[in-house]
Amino acid sequence: MEVKTSLLDNMIGVGDMVLLEPLSEESFIENLRNRFDHNEIYTYIGSVVISMNPYRSLPIFTPEKVEEYRNRNFYELSPHIYALADEAYRSLRDQDKDQCILITGESGAGKTEASKLVMSYVAAVCGKGQEVNKVKEQLLQSNPVLEAFGNAKTVRNDNSSRFGKYMDIEFDFKGDPLGGVISNYLLEKSRVVKQPRGERNFHIFYQLLSGASDDTLKKLKLDRDFSKYNYLSLDSASVTGLDDAACFRTVRNAMQIVGFMEDEVQSVLELVAAVLKLGNIEFKPESRVNGFDESRVKDKNDLKEMCELLGIEQSVLERAFSYRTVEAKMEKVSTTLNVSQAYYARDALAKNLYSRLFSWLVTRINESIKAQAKTRHKVMGVLDIYGFEIFEENSFEQFIINYCNEKLQQIFIELTLREEQEEYIREDIEWTNIEYFNNAVICDLIENNQNGILAMLDEECLRPGTVTDDTFLDKLNTICAEHQHFESRLSKNSKFLTDHSLPHSCFRIQHYAGKVLYRVEGFVDKNNDLLYRDLSQAMYKANHSLMKQIFPEGNPAKVNLKRPPTAGFQFKASVGTLMRNLLTKNPNYIRCIKPNDKKAAHIFTDTLVCHQVRYLGLMENVRVRRAGYAFRQMYEPCLERYKMLCKQTWPHWRGPTREGVEVLMTDLQISTEEFAYGRSKIFIRNPRTLFFLEEKRRGCLENLAALIQKIYRGWKCRKHFLLLKKSQVVVAAWYRRYAQQKKYQKIKSSTIVMQSFIRGWKARKILRELKYQKRCKEAVTTIAAYWHGTQARRELRRLKEEARRKHAIAVIWAYWLGLKVRREYRKFFRAHAGRKIYDFTIQRIMQKYFLNLKKTMPSMSPIDKKWPARPYQFMEGANTELRRIFYLWRCKKYRSQFTEDKKAVYEEKLEASEIFKDKKALYPSSVSQPFKGDYVEINKNPKYQKLNSAVEEKVLLADVVNKINRANGKGSSRIFLLTKNNFVLADQKTGQVKASVPLPDLTSVSVSTQNDGFFALKLKEGSASAAKGDFLLSSDHLIEIITKLHRAGTAMADREQININISDEFLVQFKQDKVCVKFVQGGPKNGNSAACKRKNNRLLEVSVPSP
Ligand SMILES: Nc1ncnc2c1ncn2[C@@H]1O[C@H](COP(=O)(O)OP(=O)(O)O)[C@@H](O)[C@H]1O
Ligand SMILES: [Mg+2]
Repeated sequence: MEVKTSLLDNMIGVGDMVLLEPLSEESFIENLRNRFDHNEIYTYIGSVVISMNPYRSLPIFTPEKVEEYRNRNFYELSPHIYALADEAYRSLRDQDKDQCILITGESGAGKTEASKLVMSYVAAVCGKGQEVNKVKEQLLQSNPVLEAFGNAKTVRNDNSSRFGKYMDIEFDFKGDPLGGVISNYLLEKSRVVKQPRGERNFHIFYQLLSGASDDTLKKLKLDRDFSKYNYLSLDSASVTGLDDAACFRTVRNAMQIVGFMEDEVQSVLELVAAVLKLGNIEFKPESRVNGFDESRVKDKNDLKEMCELLGIEQSVLERAFSYRTVEAKMEKVSTTLNVSQAYYARDALAKNLYSRLFSWLVTRINESIKAQAKTRHKVMGVLDIYGFEIFEENSFEQFIINYCNEKLQQIFIELTLREEQEEYIREDIEWTNIEYFNNAVICDLIENNQNGILAMLDEECLRPGTVTDDTFLDKLNTICAEHQHFESRLSKNSKFLTDHSLPHSCFRIQHYAGKVLYRVEGFVDKNNDLLYRDLSQAMYKANHSLMKQIFPEGNPAKVNLKRPPTAGFQFKASVGTLMRNLLTKNPNYIRCIKPNDKKAAHIFTDTLVCHQVRYLGLMENVRVRRAGYAFRQMYEPCLERYKMLCKQTWPHWRGPTREGVEVLMTDLQISTEEFAYGRSKIFIRNPRTLFFLEEKRRGCLENLAALIQKIYRGWKCRKHFLLLKKSQVVVAAWYRRYAQQKKYQKIKSSTIVMQSFIRGWKARKILRELKYQKRCKEAVTTIAAYWHGTQARRELRRLKEEARRKHAIAVIWAYWLGLKVRREYRKFFRAHAGRKIYDFTIQRIMQKYFLNLKKTMPSMSPIDKKWPARPYQFMEGANTELRRIFYLWRCKKYRSQFTEDKKAVYEEKLEASEIFKDKKALYPSSVSQPFKGDYVEINKNPKYQKLNSAVEEKVLLADVVNKINRANGKGSSRIFLLTKNNFVLADQKTGQVKASVPLPDLTSVSVSTQNDGFFALKLKEGSASAAKGDFLLSSDHLIEIITKLHRAGTAMADREQININISDEFLVQFKQDKVCVKFVQGGPKNGNSAACKRKNNRLLEVSVPSP
């Protein structure tokens, strides 16, 4: 359901100034302030929107807001610029009425922003589609381009438009945009050459220098440094919050979207650069023979670069700065320019160049955004024009601007009144004349063709003879003396002779918005807007197509000796055109007000606002609007809004709405002067009446709300109660079901318990029965068994008794016999028969023992440990002794089988055991190896025949040993021979004897405790054999060699024993040195054998692998 709202809902202050009660300037401003403080920057005066500049972004321009205001009636929502834009757009689209939106206000009041908001709103709500979007984009993007070239930072506004702009947007019958036309008014071109303190030149200069690439700047012969250019004011070159470089990119992009060609953009930038260069051209005086001073260009570099940029011949331009040619009626007179005239000419050229460039830009944009289709267009014009200006010093520009504002005020009054009147006629209401101030007289003072100020100024400018600003003022003093809005000190009516607030060189005009004092200085010059023909011709000669286009009057073929129209004249003409254009359209007004001078948010300066309210004529506006009836409303919304105030109309009125309203008004007893019935609207004379209605409505709404609340609460309670009731039934049903279920379960389980008990009881009874029967059976069996047992035992006992008795009888019988025998034979027994029986018994036992021993004799093996056990304790000693004897005998028997050789072998083994057992780790592995003696078969091997014959004695041992080299511990093979008296070392290959040592010279043998085969043979000191030192050898048969050496040593009668020294460290005499041989357990480096290594002079280390 659509919610019907009204402007009157939730109002802060009053949303429409027409409703202000009482109406006074104070209450007006107070209302503005109140709304401004609550962020309500828009307020209506009827259909006029007052816009306060918030100087900060408010969240009221979102796409959601656009949607909110789209297709809603003007008074339906709180005041907004979108409401106005929507109203304008819809009446354009639906009622085919051309619209214009007039935005006025002083500099910085937010006009340009407002115009952009309107355009963006229209762009958002109008049709969509590729073509339409392109048009929209082009229209919107024309703004950044024009702003770059036409806006500048001023003390009032960082982005102040320095030109007036009127843009017609053209739509087709569907309301889709087709294109547009832009008109520009009076660019403030004096800014090009000079800027007031704290202000800047036009943005484009700064944007170009900051944003262009190095390459572009080089092409344009420019330097990035602002300070290099005379035309750029430096005190505010960079503006906070304004990124010139980024803006430059935006502008380039916008130009591209709008449709500028790349070479066009380049030409435009060249012209901008040329203006900067122009500013740097300076002049110096040069005296001439005729006594006059002539100007000369001081430093020609800038001139040269500028000429290069624009393709102008340098000499032509140089000449144009020094001479001026005046042509009159076929006559050409050339006069020289002095320095100040040269500067004047330079600045005039710069200003003209720039303003013409700007106009060209507008034309070029228009070309792009021109509507293509030739069908009838509907038009919405947006006028963003400078507001009324009152400065300390007001000059020609202010005069022109204020004139424009007078004209606007006039059409405002005219149109408002006309509209009001039209409405009255439309609604068939009687028209009452309205008192208001009509500023037509002021317009007339300025623009009248005979004696208007502008006409007078033109007359002065065109008049031959000396013309100055003062002659112009004199003229005004004469002609306008009687005008009630013109004031001057020397005016002919001498009214102001004593008015000291009026200086002599000034005149004052009472504009509708206040009095403004104009200083006449410069009026004539500015109106003339003179550019020496030599300069325009020089410009035309440039080899630059854009320059040619903008200086067409320089074309020598079209020399026009007529003076060009004056600035004032041109402006008046364009304002006239504009006004005629606006008059054909339905106007919509946006009145911008700036709340403070500081460009700051939240500050509201009463005096400043008051001033603006005055000169914008807003009070006037309200009065005009209220002159007849302050408020009007269509019958339908009116009835809808107030129907609750009367019983007949509440809640529904079935008849025509107008009658409904009439019934309502009569019922409310409102006096008939207070309102009038139009055709479709009711007109209310006083806001008081409206507020009375509103008040009543509010009260009524409260009651209605209470009623609705009451009914609703009742309904809600009942609903709740019914729900509870229904729920209660459900809950009860569920509960009963649950309780019954529980009960049933209980009965069921009890029954089962009882059943089981009964069944159990029955079963137990049967079980008991069965058990009893079983027990009976068992008892019978047991009793029978017992009975049989008893019987059997009784029989057994009887049998045993019988047997015992029989035995006893036998024993008794035997004893009795024995007794009888003994009694009979006692006389035959000898006294010591007992001893003999004993001996006999022993003898018999021994006999039996030995016989048994013979049968169980153990084997003859000496290692058989078996021996038969003794039968009786007393034979322990004899048995052990017999066992020992048998053992010895058996060993003897065993030994007796040995031959002499084998005996010797065992003797040797025995000796080896004595020497090494438990002393050297190598020993256990040698026990099982038989001692072979000759390992090299010395007798048989023909290789050793010679060696064999060299050794005369019997060879006890022959083996290959390793002789350890003293120097490095490496071994070399030798044959080791042992005889009874000597040992010999011979070469293994040849058998040649290397050393033969008689055993007596051998004092000791040293071996390690470990698993190695190293041994040292130590020789007696001083003996012949010891000359070369001791031998350190190693052999696989170490145990055998040492044992045999030892035996050989022991066998020699005249010799002490050879010492066997077993230790892991011993000394060996090598020639002179004693070397220590040390055995260490180390990791096996080369297999399992021990390795010998010479560590130093004194140490040979043998590493033996760990076992
Ligand atoms: N509706 C707005 N919301 C926020 N800031 C605004 C608004 N209107 C104006 N301003 C601020 O005020 C400055 C001046 O506005 P501008 O439209 O350029 O003034 P004018 O065109 O009247 O000289 C803008 O640059 C902007 O900072
Ligand atoms: Mg502006």
